[in-house]
Amino acid sequence: MDFAFLKKISLPKLGSVFGRSRSIVGIDIGDASVKVVQLKKDQERAVLETYGELKTDRYLKKSEGMLGGGVLRFIDADIASMISDVISESNVTAKEAVVSIPSTSSFVTLVEFPTADRAEVTKAIPFEARKYIPIPISEVALDWQIIDEGDTAQPGERTKVLLVAVPKEILSKMHRIFEITKVKIKSLEIETFSLVRSLIGHDKSPTAIVNIGAQSSSIVIVDRGVVMLSHTIDRGAHELTTALARGLGITAERAEAFKYEIGLSDRPEDREISSVITPLIELQLSELQRIIASYNRGTERSIEKVYLTGGGSRLKGIIDYTARRFGLETTTPNPFTRVTYPAFMQPILKDVGPSFPVAVGLALREISTK
Ligand SMILES: Nc1ncnc2c1ncn2[C@@H]1O[C@H](COP(=O)(O)OP(=O)(O)OP(=O)(O)O)[C@@H](O)[C@H]1O
Ligand SMILES: [Mg+2]
Repeated sequence: MDFAFLKKISLPKLGSVFGRSRSIVGIDIGDASVKVVQLKKDQERAVLETYGELKTDRYLKKSEGMLGGGVLRFIDADIASMISDVISESNVTAKEAVVSIPSTSSFVTLVEFPTADRAEVTKAIPFEARKYIPIPISEVALDWQIIDEGDTAQPGERTKVLLVAVPKEILSKMHRIFEITKVKIKSLEIETFSLVRSLIGHDKSPTAIVNIGAQSSSIVIVDRGVVMLSHTIDRGAHELTTALARGLGITAERAEAFKYEIGLSDRPEDREISSVITPLIELQLSELQRIIASYNRGTERSIEKVYLTGGGSRLKGIIDYTARRFGLETTTPNPFTRVTYPAFMQPILKDVGPSFPVAVGLALREISTK
């Protein structure tokens, strides 16, 4: 599966990935940490060369208020030095990178046109886009894909188009940041599509990917391998840390450890901690459930399963809790399953996997064997 989105606005080639070095690094700049995954194409396989994660809190202090308010609100020099450090600490050798655009800094919308005439649709897209994108169209880079619904398409009636837009301000910021770093941008991709590439593969069933980040969480609904909806909510795993620290009068470090070790435990001796966490998770899941329910009302193909991912999905007990809450099969897929690595790394990659779906998907974009 290959998503053409934002290829139009990628930088020109700065050197070939398949030249002297066949390695490429995926860089996911998140609110809590920056993650890197370096892959190398070896015949038809994507081989894991290295990966790493670096917490952002030491680096990102001064903010400058960017659109969407995500991690890109911080100043260029600080983001660049964080990227340079994670690159050297993780022994990344690739010279080119595929870099994520946060979902909070982009718009992804499915729009229906009341005609099957594709030429007409293509002409109408820039005009229609104005209705869906809340900032002036001259200030965004716009891309789209006509969704081919295969057997169920009703010729002569309608065309579904996935509209994708990224503010130009975000793109120029990315380019400014990577002018400072040694590693250069090969392409940029909205994280939504990286998630789908690393987690869905050839699966055709209607699936909700729930990515629980630090300050925000996103839900992406995918059917027949196509993104049908992408939505971000302003709640994430960090609010659990803040609530625990405040509620129990403990440090943020201690609160983090409680999330990892106790989480949603139902043992009576853990109640002091789980009773702080549970109502917040309940709020997050009820917002997400509303999105799923509203999607299901408008379709004949209801969501069959949930893929929980992101650092927040590593909270102890959250998988079972979500499965019960949504009444749907819920798992945390391992994004590294599409990558070749030494067998001894299996347990560690399974453990850290939920933090890396975006970085793996980014690197796979340029190394994809399909
Ligand atoms: N093992 C774990 N157990 C519980 N929580 C965890 C674990 N590992 C990470 N987290 C939590 O996950 C959150 C970070 O998630 P993630 O790395 O997906 O965010 P991010 O990608 O940096 O942020 P965003 O995508 O919102 O920009 C933090 O709040 C952290 O406490
Ligand atoms: Mg993230």
